[in-house]
Amino acid sequence: MKNNKILLLVVVASIFLMGCGGRQTKETAVDNNAMADTAEVTRLADLTEELTLNDSDEDIQVFTMKIGNDPERSHLSVSFPFTKYAFINEYERDFSQRFIDEFKSEAANFGSDATSAADFNQHFEIKHRSDELVVFLYTRSKSLGNNYDDSFIASMFDLKNGKRISATDFFESPESFEAFATDMREMAAKAVRQKLNESDDFANQQERETVWMEMLPGIDEGTAANEENYDALFFDENKEWYVIFDKYQIASGAMGSFTIKIPQSVIGKYLNRKFAALFAQSKQADEVLAPVAPAAPSRPQSSPAEQDLQAPCVALTFDDGPSVYTSRLLDILREENVKATFFVLGKSAAVQKQTLRRIAEEGHNIGNHSYDHKNFAKISLDEARRQITLTDDITQEITGSKPTYFRFPYGAFTNDKLMLVNRPIIGWNIDPLDWKYRDAEKVAAEMSKASANAIILAHDIHKTTVEAIPQVIRNLKAKGYRIVTLDELFAGKSVQNNKVYSSGK
Ligand code: NI
Repeated sequence: MKNNKILLLVVVASIFLMGCGGRQTKETAVDNNAMADTAEVTRLADLTEELTLNDSDEDIQVFTMKIGNDPERSHLSVSFPFTKYAFINEYERDFSQRFIDEFKSEAANFGSDATSAADFNQHFEIKHRSDELVVFLYTRSKSLGNNYDDSFIASMFDLKNGKRISATDFFESPESFEAFATDMREMAAKAVRQKLNESDDFANQQERETVWMEMLPGIDEGTAANEENYDALFFDENKEWYVIFDKYQIASGAMGSFTIKIPQSVIGKYLNRKFAALFAQSKQADEVLAPVAPAAPSRPQSSPAEQDLQAPCVALTFDDGPSVYTSRLLDILREENVKATFFVLGKSAAVQKQTLRRIAEEGHNIGNHSYDHKNFAKISLDEARRQITLTDDITQEITGSKPTYFRFPYGAFTNDKLMLVNRPIIGWNIDPLDWKYRDAEKVAAEMSKASANAIILAHDIHKTTVEAIPQVIRNLKAKGYRIVTLDELFAGKSVQNNKVYSSGK
């Protein structure tokens, strides 16, 4: 019932949107291969020179580094937090650079062989934030073939004393860490045993017991008191404690990872006084999100003559954000009175809620680009569904509505995944390869090759791409195009769910 109402509203809204004129303009042939190959950017910039947060900006933003956009070739997508604290930024940048370096060496092993490739992905969630403490939880996914292997790493900072916290900093002494690990060994063994009992993979009870006995040394080793075993020991916004044991850490790979909730009565016994005091003080800050302002689909700022409704349209689309560069891009679009479409990642939208809110309020379209940019040709149907739903829910919570378009990461999918989307699927026909060419002039020139009804791909995670946009807008306007959202590009055209559109034709 609720969905029907939303649908009706969308239909009514579409009627009032202006269509795009069919008038011919001079078209330039698109040739993506014309660009000479240049070295890929694989070093993270010195962020203190590159970025500063203004007072009006969100405290924690997302820096995203990307290498490659071809699902058949090696590719990487890495995100880490950028904050008001230089010591955090420096740590996270170095942490991420090591993952990028590892990717580079794996990718080099594959050479030009396109049958398989390295596929690395890193994202983070904010688990706890207060004036005293901040906790990020990273998920790193690596694939050198068909499956992703996930690992989890907590990244925690003491803001009062300006330092990073690792597992050993929680404990009074090495002995109390040992005692804690003994308790964890028991809880881990219980969790593994339970999964084993539930498994149908055994012919009889004896076989099950044999496997169990073989697993015990692995449980001992995987729960021993050291930093590596407890690199995912953390607490969340409710001050609940968890430890995640990665796949293979305490059991066979088939059993996956184990997330264990640690009772307060257990962890409380071992925390050192200094940390315990800080922890007691730490109060999760209430999230201050302004109430949803009504969406502004068309602001009558320019006169009809200026808009030239007979002009043919092109659509600018920005993927993989929101990021540290998105608010600058929004400033540019507002100055130029241009509306675009943002294909956001759920993981990044959850961190930069204010930015997502602003995208919606300023009349841009929002598309769903998955939760964390996995290759949909590779993940299971269940995981694909989770990625779409999670991003829908995050967007709905922040903006009040779900994204009405979907774009597959890397444009990669299998036919069974198409049917999950339940909305039009958007491709592109202009790709400036902006992840590769970090040169605003070059990116602007490529994006400006768009012809009527083009869908232009770009990424608001690159500084150079955002810097290219004023020139792109000038060029497209000079060629007589109107720059529109996807809603406007498709207005008056029949667009079907679960079908791929790479232009507005
Ligand atoms: Ni993408």
